[in-house]
Amino acid sequence: MQNKSIKQFIMIFYFSGTGNSKHVAQTLSGLIGDNEVINIADFHDDIANKKDVKITVKNDGFLGFVSPVHSWGLALTVKRFLERLRIQNPQSIKKIFSVFVCGDTCGKAMEMMNERLKKYNNIQLDFYCSVQMPNNYIVMKGFGTDPKELEQQKLSKAEIEIPKIADAILNGSEYKNYVIGPKPFLKGRIIYPLFMKFTLGDKKFFADNNCNGCGLCEKTCPEKNIKLENNRPKWLGHCVKCLACIHRCPKTAIQYGDITQTMGRYYFKK
Ligand SMILES: Cc1cc2nc3c(=O)[nH]c(=O)nc-3n(C[C@H](O)[C@H](O)[C@H](O)COP(=O)(O)O)c2cc1C
Repeated sequence: MQNKSIKQFIMIFYFSGTGNSKHVAQTLSGLIGDNEVINIADFHDDIANKKDVKITVKNDGFLGFVSPVHSWGLALTVKRFLERLRIQNPQSIKKIFSVFVCGDTCGKAMEMMNERLKKYNNIQLDFYCSVQMPNNYIVMKGFGTDPKELEQQKLSKAEIEIPKIADAILNGSEYKNYVIGPKPFLKGRIIYPLFMKFTLGDKKFFADNNCNGCGLCEKTCPEKNIKLENNRPKWLGHCVKCLACIHRCPKTAIQYGDITQTMGRYYFKK
């Protein structure tokens, strides 16, 4: 999917494990009109082969990103994408925006995006904000999905916020809401690199006896990191921990070590 020439006025790139960021991107798109919504996972092969992703934005067009927050920073797929993205006409873009979709707080995600936009394309975000959506991080003790009531509250609040964000993007109306959270330096600059180095492996994933070999995990994995072997998922070693597989499994058959047996599951349903 290289060398994309976008004719629409606004192009929105998103990445999503459990559907929250996809929903935010698609809702924004519906409100904004005249735009194209592009899944960053579609560039998987280019990114894996370290090929540049060249895009041309319509003159005076808008360019946007919608991304989940991982460990108070950028989800690895988004980070890699930004490091491969080569905008052919950065000077003709009218506005660059990003919406960070978190469970609670975003830490250094925005700064990390701006650093990469600057380094690889010499551009900066003109507008950014966060939206809190239900938590999906369940593969570490002490974390977990939100109680159902909180999940519903977050979803309802997001439905009110997204139109305001669309208005801010399109019309420049005031909207300031980026929940950075406490100790952003510690979390974003110290914990994030450690998280990326030590916790991304997929060795602890397995399918228990409830697995019926439906293959939804294989289809859902945006990193093409799952192959069915003898009707059972096999993880191939390049997981980015988006957790699509574990949350989408219709039989709750995917587990992560001994951590997730009692944890809830979540994915965005319309
Ligand atoms: C690996 C991982 C790390 C996460 N780290 C954070 C975090 O630092 N801050 C936060 O508020 N939410 C964090 N979350 C929760 C997600 O950002 C949140 O649930 C988001 O809405 C998921 O979006 P998605 O459904 O588009 O993947 C994390 C989730 C995962 C899978």
